[in-house]
Amino acid sequence: MTAALSVAFRAIAKSFGIIEALRPTDLDVAAGEFLTLLGPSGSGKTTLLNIAAGYIPPSGGRVLIGGRDVTDLPARRRNIGMVFQNYALFPHLSVADNIAYGLSARGRPADEIKRRVGDTLALVRLEGYGGRAIRELSGGQQQRVALARALIIEPDVLLMDEPLGALDRQLRKHVQLEIRRLHRELGRTTIYVTHDQEEALVMSDRIGVMREGRIAQLGTARELYERPADVFVASFLGESNLLEGRVEALDGARARLVVPLLGAVDGIAAAGLSVGAEASALVRPEDVVVDGAGAGWPAQVEEVVYLGDLVAIRIRLANGQEFWCRRLARLGAPEDAKVGVGWAADRVRVLPGTGTAARAAEPPE
Ligand SMILES: Nc1ncnc2c1ncn2[C@@H]1O[C@H](COP(=O)(O)OP(=O)(O)O)[C@@H](O)[C@H]1O
Ligand SMILES: [Mg+2]
Repeated sequence: MTAALSVAFRAIAKSFGIIEALRPTDLDVAAGEFLTLLGPSGSGKTTLLNIAAGYIPPSGGRVLIGGRDVTDLPARRRNIGMVFQNYALFPHLSVADNIAYGLSARGRPADEIKRRVGDTLALVRLEGYGGRAIRELSGGQQQRVALARALIIEPDVLLMDEPLGALDRQLRKHVQLEIRRLHRELGRTTIYVTHDQEEALVMSDRIGVMREGRIAQLGTARELYERPADVFVASFLGESNLLEGRVEALDGARARLVVPLLGAVDGIAAAGLSVGAEASALVRPEDVVVDGAGAGWPAQVEEVVYLGDLVAIRIRLANGQEFWCRRLARLGAPEDAKVGVGWAADRVRVLPGTGTAARAAEPPE
């Protein structure tokens, strides 16, 4: 096995006519890392991946693989494996011939190809399927063929663009775990694109959340979930309750927000806040405490949804706003409609901007 290589994007930008698909973007993917680009449709994920692969040239900036500048190298001279959502298999070729393609194109000898196809079939757990026609395989099996085809060339970097998008939920979970296993076994540097936050959480060493051609925030799943930089990242990763208001006071790591019709809400200050500016307090549903005895802010229970392990409780605050609380189902739901709600101030994050502003800036699907 060859050593894994790092990937670096330096001020990479891409315009299509007047559309700025990527604003100048810097990103360092460590050797052997599994990095996921997560973001809504149109945020520039595929563009960044295609630039890494050499399928499209950037309008500006450089791409480095293993420290070497590959910006001007064509795709076939970069040792990259690519997996697409629609598999892009050759329907008239057998499974084995599809997998062998990268080696045949590189002119490897027949006996080596045969051996490596056998090994790669085993790697993706498709032993005995080499002679099958592509149309005889299920979607999940076809995606494993596509993965095998990308892996057989022992790529320096593995790129995957929403590879599980065409699979149903059950199968998707299964293949997610397979891809994780392969990553652990092979240690290949991987850049994985998805718009599915759960998938990003399950698979990644780090996640880059993309928005409008930029990486809005880069970090581990835990960092992004617990310390989102702004309302967009908070809303994109996990469930969120957002209280909108104005910053009344800033004191080091703490911020106090004044929420109309509700009052003062304290929390941990994110970067980019200033006194008097619009901001939002983020309270995750699992941090909302609903007290049947009525301690805390007065609220009304409107709905209780049983989720098996958890219950989700929809409540309405005195300012008319909806709020969600989640807790373990075995703790039960409050009996009364009139409750008090609260949360620990150190679980609240005060973020710059408001959800209304973030939604208005959202590109249409
Ligand atoms: N070949 C192209 N010609 C014109 N516009 C493009 C082209 N490819 C992508 N775009 C535009 O660039 C933006 C980013 O696209 P893309 O990278 O495909 O986003 P994502 O993969 O996150 O959905 C979108 O506005 C898209 O319409
Ligand atoms: Mg895309």
